Amino acid sequence: MKSRDEIFKEGRKVVKKIIDQAAETARAETDNVPEPGLTGDFTFPVKATLNKGLEGAITGSTGIGYVNGEKGWLLYRGYNIFDLAANCDFEEVIYLLLYGDLPDVHELEAFKKKLIGYRSIPEVVIDVLKKIPTPHTHPMAALRTAISVLGTLDATADDCSVDAEREVAIRLIAQLPGVVAAIARIREHKRLVPQDISCTHACNFLYTMTGESPIDINNISEAIMNVALILHADHGMNNSTFTGIVINSSLTDMYSSIVGAIGSLKGPLHGGANERVLYMLEEIGNINKVEEWFKDARATKRKLMGFGHRVYKAYDPRGRVLKPLAKKLAEDHPDFMKLYDIAEKLDDLVCKKLGKEKRIFPNVDFYSGLVYRSLGIKSAMFTPIFAVSRIVGWTARALEYLQTNRIMRPRAVYTGDLKKKLIPIEKRKK
Ligand code: CMC
Repeated sequence: MKSRDEIFKEGRKVVKKIIDQAAETARAETDNVPEPGLTGDFTFPVKATLNKGLEGAITGSTGIGYVNGEKGWLLYRGYNIFDLAANCDFEEVIYLLLYGDLPDVHELEAFKKKLIGYRSIPEVVIDVLKKIPTPHTHPMAALRTAISVLGTLDATADDCSVDAEREVAIRLIAQLPGVVAAIARIREHKRLVPQDISCTHACNFLYTMTGESPIDINNISEAIMNVALILHADHGMNNSTFTGIVINSSLTDMYSSIVGAIGSLKGPLHGGANERVLYMLEEIGNINKVEEWFKDARATKRKLMGFGHRVYKAYDPRGRVLKPLAKKLAEDHPDFMKLYDIAEKLDDLVCKKLGKEKRIFPNVDFYSGLVYRSLGIKSAMFTPIFAVSRIVGWTARALEYLQTNRIMRPRAVYTGDLKKKLIPIEKRKK
C-alpha cells in the first residue's frame, strides 16, 4: 500500500504538469509585452498622477513582490508565480516572502517545525467562536474577532520591534488555518478536528476543515490546496495589504493590523468576490442561459463578480492556473462540471466582449471558488481561505515597511466653507 506522502507526491506531479502547461501558454502569449515603468531604483519624493481610489499613488518601494498588469505576470521576490506554484510547498513561499529568499532543506525543515509548534489555538478563542451567533455572522467577521482575541492573550503584543512582530506574524500564519477550520465546523455544529502535526500546512488545513483525510477526498486535493495558498499569498499594494501597512505604521501591534486587513479583505470588491462568484454561477444555473444572462447584466450595468482588476489589464496568471485545476477537480463531479462549464462560457464571453473594449478579464476570484467547492468547502468559507494565505503578504509587507517606518498620513482637499459663523444651539433653524 502506498504511504500518504507517496500519494501526495503523485498528486503534486499531476498538478505540476497542469501548471507547467498554463505557464507555457502564458509565456507564449505575453513574453513580448513590454515592461511597464514600476520597477528599478526608487527614492522619494516622487511625482505621480493620482486618480480616485488612490489610482496612480506610490506608497514606496518593495522587494517583496511585483504585479505586471500589462503582461499578466506576478513575481514573489523575483520568482515567477508559475514556478513557485508548480514546484514549492506553501511553507517555502512563506519563508521566501518573510525572509527574502527560498530556504535550503535544513532551513525549511526547521521552519516547518516552528510553524507546527505554533499551530495550536488557545481554548479561549474557541470559546469565543462558539458564542458567536451562526449562521448570520459572516465567517470573516468571526475571523476578525478571533484575531482580536488572540491579540488580547499576547502580553508581548505591543513590542513593535521587527523581530518581535515577525514572531507574531509567524505565529498567526501558523494559527490561521486552525482558526478558520474551527469557524467552519462550529458554523455547521460539527465537532472540531484536532490538528495533524505530521501534515503540511495545506494538508492540515484541509483535514481540519473537512474532517476527512485529504487522501480520502481526492488524491490531488492536498496539492491543489497547496497551490491555492501559494497563488494568494501576496499581491502588490492591494486594499487589505495597504490597510495592514497603514495600521502598522502607527506602531500599534501586528494583531490590530491583521484585524484591519481581514476587515478589508471581506469586502465584495476585494476578497469577498470569490464567494459571490459561486452565487452568480448558481444564479445563471445553466450553460444555455449564459449568453442571455450576460446581455442582461450588461444592460443593467451589473458588476460581474470575479472580473476586472485595478492593475491587471490582461488575464490574471493566478486565474490561468486555477482554471485548469478547477476543471480537473470537476471531472469526477457532474454537479461541479455543470458550474465549471457555465464559468468557462462566461469567461469566453467576457474576454471577447469586455477584454477587447475595456481590458476586463477574469481575476483570481473567478475560479478559486470552484476549486474550493470541489474540495468540499462551503461558499461562505472561501474568503477566510484567502486570508489564510494572504496573511503572509500582509505581514511580510508590514514588516518590510516597519524597517524604515514613517506613519502613513495622506491628506484630502477640503471643499467646505472656510469662515462659518457659529450660531448658538437655541437659535439654530434648519
Ligand atoms: N463588471 C463589469 N464592469 C466592470 C467590472 C466588472 N467586474 N470591473 C470593472 N468594470 C468596468 C467599470 O464599470 C468601469 O467602466 P466605465 O469606465 O464604463 O465606468 C471600468 O470597468 C473600470 O472599472 P473600475 O470600477 O473603475 O475599476 P477599479 O480599478 O476601480 O476596480 C475592481 C477594480 C476589482 C474593484 C472591479 O473590477 C470590480 O469591482 N470587480 C468585481 C469584483 C471582483 O471581482 N473583485 C476581486 C478583485 S481581484 C482579487 C482581489 O483583489 O481581491
